[in-house]
Parts: sequence; C-alpha cells; structure tokens
Amino acid sequence: MFNLANSHRSIRAYKDQEIDDTLLNELLTTGLRSSSSGNMQTWSVIVTRDPAQKQRLYEAHSYQNMVLEAPVVLTFCADLFRMREWVRVHGSKQSFDDLLGFLVGAMDATIAAQTICLAAESVGLGICYMGTTWFSADKLIELLDLPQYTFPVTSIVMGYPAEAPGVRDRLPLDLVVHQEKYKRLSDAEILATHAEREQNAWARYNANEAVRERLAAAGITKITDYYTSEFKYSKELHVQVSNMLIEKLQDQGLLHL
Ligand SMILES: Cc1cc2nc3c(=O)[nH]c(=O)nc-3n(C[C@H](O)[C@H](O)[C@H](O)COP(=O)(O)O)c2cc1C
Repeated sequence: MFNLANSHRSIRAYKDQEIDDTLLNELLTTGLRSSSSGNMQTWSVIVTRDPAQKQRLYEAHSYQNMVLEAPVVLTFCADLFRMREWVRVHGSKQSFDDLLGFLVGAMDATIAAQTICLAAESVGLGICYMGTTWFSADKLIELLDLPQYTFPVTSIVMGYPAEAPGVRDRLPLDLVVHQEKYKRLSDAEILATHAEREQNAWARYNANEAVRERLAAAGITKITDYYTSEFKYSKELHVQVSNMLIEKLQDQGLLHL
C-alpha cells in the first residue's frame, strides 16, 4: 500500500487498449466500499466508453487529449437525488437539498474516486483527475443528463499507460502538517521552503518550447506569476467559474441564497 501510494503519478497518455468489463466492475465495486457520510453513499459515477460521447466530454474538458485516448472516463457526482427519491417514496420528511447536502455528496464522491484510483493503479492502470469538471459543470450536467440534486464533482480518465513519467515533487511534509495548531510562516520561511519546488516547476514548464515562448511573450518570469496568469488560474477565471457554479448549484436544487 505504501509503495503503491508513493509511486502514484498522473497518466496523460494511454494505449489503445480497452479495460475489461469484469475488471472495471471490480474497481467500481471496490469504490463502493469507501467510507461515506452516514453510509448514505450520496455519490454516483457515470461511465463513459462510447467514442461519440467521449468526443463531447473531450470538448467539455478543454480538449484534453487523454479524454479521447483513455478507454474509460468516469464522472463522479454528488448524488442527493437517489437519497431524496428513497425518502420520497416512503413519504418521509425531505432533506439534503442544500449546501451541506452537496458538500456531503461531494466528499462521498471524491473519497470513492480516490479508492477507485488506487485500486486501478494497483493493477497497472493509469489515471488522471480532471479539474475541468468544475469548469464545465454546466455542460456536463447537460451531456450526462444529470437530474436535480446531483452535481459533477470530479472526473478521471483511466486506461493502460503509454508513458512512464517520474513522480512529481511535493511540498515538504512540515508545510502541510501542523502540530496541534496552525503554524504561519514568515516571508523568509515561505521563500526558503518553496525554493526547490519553484525551481523544479519552472524548469518543467520551460522544458516545453511552446510554453516557454508563451511565458516569455507574456513577461512571466516566475512560477507564482504563471499560476495566477490567464494561462492557469487567474482571478477572472475563478470568479467566472464560481459564479457559474453558484448558479448551477441553485438550478440543481443544492443551494438556496
Ligand atoms: C482535482 C484534480 C484536478 C486535476 N485536473 C487536472 C486536469 O484537468 N488536467 C491534468 O492534466 N491534470 C489534472 N490533475 C492532475 C494534477 O495535475 C496532478 O495530480 C499534480 O500535478 C500532481 O502530479 P501527480 O498526480 O503526477 O503526482 C488534477 C488533479 C486533481 C487532484
């Protein structure tokens, strides 16, 4: 288990090789064993294998090639619909159509996704999460015909790796782990503890000629500039996507402002 988790790396290139139905079913069954709030299992996963539907997902996921290459795309959803339907047919008092319901479902879905990822990696499959799920939540709700009280939370591609990247850098443990109380760092400590990561990330991005040219043209000279630039996670993009999410969560009946 330690070896498996410590050798994790995202895979973005895949062989043209199907995942056997029985294996996929075993992986999904393992996901079902994940912890979930109140054992309500307020999550669902949509399996996409159909090439035409994958093409549509590819467009929704900002044209990330791995969506077309990988034989399977899994879209994990917070699912309060199933729970509410169960409550409804029994005529019990309703609940879960609120932000807390959504957060519980989002956590259940994410935990299940990670269980499935580890199980997949344990049998030699590769995976990569797609944050574009949030960015395209509106499109995914339509494409996957998601009912009210459900919401796409994360997606993964899964398949047999056609690349063998090395493991990527991580922050030093004591930046992430706080003993008893949250520990704030001085500016000097922030610079010192992030220096190696800054160098690695900058070198990695600059190794790609197209990216290097784009960075130079935009006058971006350090990794933190890049992270908040128009090429990555700009404030403007965050506000735009956040507003869409608030609107869609309301449409899906999971947020009432
Ligand atoms: C929620 C989430 C969203 C992600 N979205 C994307 C994505 O849209 N495209 C991509 O290529 N990688 C994506 N990744 C993969 C990360 O870039 C990757 O996990 C990180 O760089 C660390 O690399 P590693 O997984 O190889 O260790 C995502 C990862 C997570 C957890």
